Amino acid sequence: MDKSTLVLVVGSEALAQEVSAVGAAVKSRAIQVQRTPDLRRAAELVRTRRPDAVLVELDRDLRDLHAFSAELESGPDAPPLLVGAWSRERFGGEDPSGAYLIDATRARVRDFIRRPVSSAELSDVLERHLGARAASRAAGRVIAFVSNKGGVGKSTLSVSTACALAKARPDQVLLIDASLQLGLGASMLDLDPTTTLVDAVAQQDRLDETLLRELSLRHPCGLRLLAAPKNAMDAARIDDASLARVLTVARRAFDFVVVDTFPLLDSIAVAILDFADDACVVVTPTVPHVLGAVTLLDVLERLGLGRGRQRVLLNHSHPRVAGTLDAEDVATRLQRPIDAVFPFDKGLLIAQNTGEPYALTAGKLFGFGRALHELAELLTRPRGAVGADVAP
Ligand SMILES: Nc1ncnc2c1ncn2[C@@H]1O[C@H](COP(=O)(O)OP(=O)(O)O)[C@@H](O)[C@H]1O
Ligand SMILES: [Mg+2]
Repeated sequence: MDKSTLVLVVGSEALAQEVSAVGAAVKSRAIQVQRTPDLRRAAELVRTRRPDAVLVELDRDLRDLHAFSAELESGPDAPPLLVGAWSRERFGGEDPSGAYLIDATRARVRDFIRRPVSSAELSDVLERHLGARAASRAAGRVIAFVSNKGGVGKSTLSVSTACALAKARPDQVLLIDASLQLGLGASMLDLDPTTTLVDAVAQQDRLDETLLRELSLRHPCGLRLLAAPKNAMDAARIDDASLARVLTVARRAFDFVVVDTFPLLDSIAVAILDFADDACVVVTPTVPHVLGAVTLLDVLERLGLGRGRQRVLLNHSHPRVAGTLDAEDVATRLQRPIDAVFPFDKGLLIAQNTGEPYALTAGKLFGFGRALHELAELLTRPRGAVGADVAP
């Protein structure tokens, strides 16, 4: 053990004592605890003491926590890990609701611990986010594919990206088909969905990492799929809060969680975006689509998803015709660099009919396969480093 881990507890003396007591039982690291009763003082302590983690006693009202996170994010240093500690007493005798979890996630809470805190849970959360494992595994990265139009290639690119990531990490990548109205993920992977996202939502109260794995389907390449609902009636059972629960468990269980979405900015899409470490905006090279993408990027910004979490993917979903914009035109109109350019490739149409994902057969040296390889590489870099070497 090199240096000890400093945990700043924001809340009651009782919580600080709990953490100190169980901290002594954590074998993997030495834990030092400091306490402050309120968030205002905490921001100052984060600057001066630089704790590894901040454990905040959660209350129903999250306004102060939002302000606290915003202050830390605007500072020069990377903010510490933010963990929420909750007890039923403060939530009217119940577990915090899905809507509450979404809001807390928006306030950048990365994980939740239930009180009374157990040494197993404390050690688990710290190892997951701060351990050597976390550094090398880029644990629990959520990658969402979005657009404001259908038919631009979200499903194609999300399935391809998920396969490319899974090939290198079997059983560590989950694709969630949240394109609720028209989920094609299973057919693109030639899988017969015996269980779907609806089952995960129905069992949300007992959903844990093991159950989530059981509900996902395994593709021979190592990818796991949580399939879309089979029909609209089933889809109606899914809402933003239940999806938030599924995502909370999913990012604990998998290294990468790739989410395909439906082109509609409803509360479900917003919940997904709240969790996204990378929001991949898929755009095709035509003027109306690019104008739509400008609006969508603006919406992301207003949802608090800054440029550091946005990726722009240009996809030539149709053969080139006169008037097709090139990558430079698109970058100029969007006023930002394009992160990856996918050419039109007939192989995708053939693959769609055979059910064999094109990502598994396309070479890495040219065309679509090369763009995919580069995107997968970009998404595997440490989160903060993404985009750092791309010219403005
Ligand atoms: N780069 C590409 N080359 C060739 N065909 C593509 C490409 N990207 C998408 N397509 C095709 O375009 C159609 C729409 O793609 P899809 O991924 O279903 O879009 P979305 O999920 O945004 O509605 C599909 O038939 C798909 O095979
Ligand atoms: Mg789709």
